[in-house]
Amino acid sequence: MPKPFHLGWFLQGSSVQAWGEPFTGAIGRDWMVPELFCDLARHLERACFDYVLIEDSSYVGESYGGSREIYLKHGLAVPRQDPAITATLMAAATKRIGIVPTFATFTHPPYLLARMMASLDQISSGRAGWNMVTGSSDVAARNYGLPQLPDHDLRYDMADEYMQAVNGLWDSWEPGAIVADEESGVLVDHTKVHAVDFEGKWYRTHGPLNSGPCPQGRPVIAQAGGSPRGRQFAAANADTIVASIKGTAAMKAYRDDVRARAAAAGRDPDHVKLLFLVNPIIAGSRAEAEAKKQARIARAEAQVPQLLAFFGKITNIDFAQYDLDAPVDTLDLRTNGHQQSLDDFKRVAGKKSLREAMLSYRGTSGSVELIGTPDDIAAQMAEAMEEVGGDGFLFSMGDVSRRTIAEVADGLVPALQRRGLTRRAYTYEQFRDNLREF
Ligand SMILES: Cc1cc2nc3c(=O)[nH]c(=O)nc-3n(C[C@H](O)[C@H](O)[C@H](O)COP(=O)(O)O)c2cc1C
Repeated sequence: MPKPFHLGWFLQGSSVQAWGEPFTGAIGRDWMVPELFCDLARHLERACFDYVLIEDSSYVGESYGGSREIYLKHGLAVPRQDPAITATLMAAATKRIGIVPTFATFTHPPYLLARMMASLDQISSGRAGWNMVTGSSDVAARNYGLPQLPDHDLRYDMADEYMQAVNGLWDSWEPGAIVADEESGVLVDHTKVHAVDFEGKWYRTHGPLNSGPCPQGRPVIAQAGGSPRGRQFAAANADTIVASIKGTAAMKAYRDDVRARAAAAGRDPDHVKLLFLVNPIIAGSRAEAEAKKQARIARAEAQVPQLLAFFGKITNIDFAQYDLDAPVDTLDLRTNGHQQSLDDFKRVAGKKSLREAMLSYRGTSGSVELIGTPDDIAAQMAEAMEEVGGDGFLFSMGDVSRRTIAEVADGLVPALQRRGLTRRAYTYEQFRDNLREF
């Protein structure tokens, strides 16, 4: 029997999904009331996914040509709601699946974040996760009154301290502090609730947390930092890592590296689950899949500026200044934003032109190409996991609709389950326990 793997879904923010794509209904008007996201969570729960991650950023892009036009015109990560609200509704719509909103350390002081996540963990009965990000845009920093973000590596030093503060707050209620004894009239045993009095270089907080404890003790921590400093941080703090990296050899090297770092930090490497971004092309037959792929390529070719604008948003690079036919290795591309993503882009680009490089990097597939019938793709996923070693996949679909969701939940997942590759039922009630099951 093969070792099963985990499944997650990477939702591109609480935003209009797949604007301009077919089968998206009246998404341009319906997105404000997140029935699609609640349906998504219900369907993925039926398919026994570990979690839905709600990606986020809190600014309107303006790096492409120094203008907001392309972002607004095409709905690139805007309009976008606060994920705390959407996460709450998705939690209320489900019973087992993990719900993982993204919050940045520079947008929420530790106390606010710790209280909000504890509340989400409570109302979901232990299914809350936090996608812990440090931010990547100076435009976002300015929305919060900061002149700019701190430098890349310093952000992670600050994040280490931030984690100490929020962990202190989550630990400020000992297990068993809530007595709720009607006879004696004692609700909370005050000897089991403690101040934190955390005094760091960048953050301070008094505590204890007035929300009370998290059912999971602490929420599940998701992280995506892929640079060496980012990996070090994730290895020390994350329960699950979301990784965007091309090819099974690079995926394996990434996973081996993070696991070694986790062990060096005194953690069990099996407590850190790496999920790799994929964007499968699922169809009823191989011919239909190939036709879908050609359509996807044609769409991507027509959208190169949007793809570059999106990539420029997370790397703070104005790609509009470059000729699309210029070889990438002649451009001076640097970032204080998503460093690892830019490095991976350059690696994939080699000597290709900017247009070709963007198309191979983001145009059609994720970490590995998955294409064909549900059975074909199940076999491809099994093979990739065999080579990489684990731990699972994160679906990042550019064309989210109820139809796409059904292709995954009702087409692909049953094929995975038949092969014993993914679970048929949740074993545990809480999110972290399910993550650690295998
Ligand atoms: C798959 C993936 C998902 C990410 N999701 C978010 C997100 O939702 N919000 C955000 O601000 N940053 C997000 N990031 C950015 C990372 O949290 C991190 O800031 C960025 O990758 C830069 O760190 P690095 O150079 O260590 O990779 C994501 C990165 C990756 C690779």
